Amino acid sequence: MTIQWFPGHMAKARREVTEKLKLVDIIFELVDARIPVSSSNPMLKEIIQQKPRLILLNKADMADRHVTEEWIAHYAKQGLIALAVNSQAGKGMNQIMKASEEILKDKRLRDKAKGLRPRAIKAMIIGIPNVGKSTLINRLAKRNIAKTGNMPGVTRSQQWIKVGKELELLDTPGILWPKFEDPVTGYKLALTGAIKDTLLNMQDIAEFGLEFLHSRYPGRLMEQYQIAELPTDLLTLFKEIAISMGYITNENEPDYEKTAEKIVRDIRMQKFGNLSFDEPDDEPESVEI
Ligand code: G4P
Repeated sequence: MTIQWFPGHMAKARREVTEKLKLVDIIFELVDARIPVSSSNPMLKEIIQQKPRLILLNKADMADRHVTEEWIAHYAKQGLIALAVNSQAGKGMNQIMKASEEILKDKRLRDKAKGLRPRAIKAMIIGIPNVGKSTLINRLAKRNIAKTGNMPGVTRSQQWIKVGKELELLDTPGILWPKFEDPVTGYKLALTGAIKDTLLNMQDIAEFGLEFLHSRYPGRLMEQYQIAELPTDLLTLFKEIAISMGYITNENEPDYEKTAEKIVRDIRMQKFGNLSFDEPDDEPESVEI
């Protein structure tokens, strides 16, 4: 599912999340472990205000493990807890409760001092489309919850899902828009399957992917396309891949279109192994996330 975000949709999404915020103690912000910044919402902090949040780096099974560890350390420096999870396989689920308790420790102590009885922690999941919100809800609920939250015009009362005795989760996630301001973010979203290819030019996505692999994982690139020596310029590289794959047009020219599609498909299908496209080092120190 890909939502085309227009200002009206953004305002509505923001309103819906703001409404639900009042019901919960904590936000589970779901991002893609391969692109924690590019898959986050640019206005998240402004929208959730002071609400405590736990960052869940989902699809960690597809990210570069070392980079994910760097991200976790990066968030910790800012006083934020982030966990690597794989909602599809149910990995990292047990840590969610522990981390939530840690984040809400002070509030729970204050409640206790006021004589309030301890109650289950109320949480909601928020994130951009396709980041794995429904998968995570179903994992935590241990059953399939209908995806009505994503259908426009479908309104119904919020239901709480009990996750053990200590946690209650809203059954519909908050859906927010991804960042769009620069094309690089768009390429990263496309390469991880968060947005449809039709929204961007396939050649541009492939070019970005190729450049990334060329600088970060040259060995994997050479191996995958059987290239003995990597040329330094991208056009020659494109040409060599086309020839190596046998993608030649009737006019005996390299078929760039087919080659671009192949490169993008191979990246998505993890033919180059686990890749992380956002790294903490890309982040300017002054930017708060
Ligand atoms: P959303 O509610 O945020 O829109 O996302 P959703 O749960 O529908 O998940 C989007 C896609 O991401 C699904 O794949 C889902 O299986 C996959 N996914 C979710 N969490 C993980 C994870 O931790 N690891 C991996 N590898 N994949 C994950 P799909 O191809 O759209 O559907 P399907 O393959 O499940 O049929």
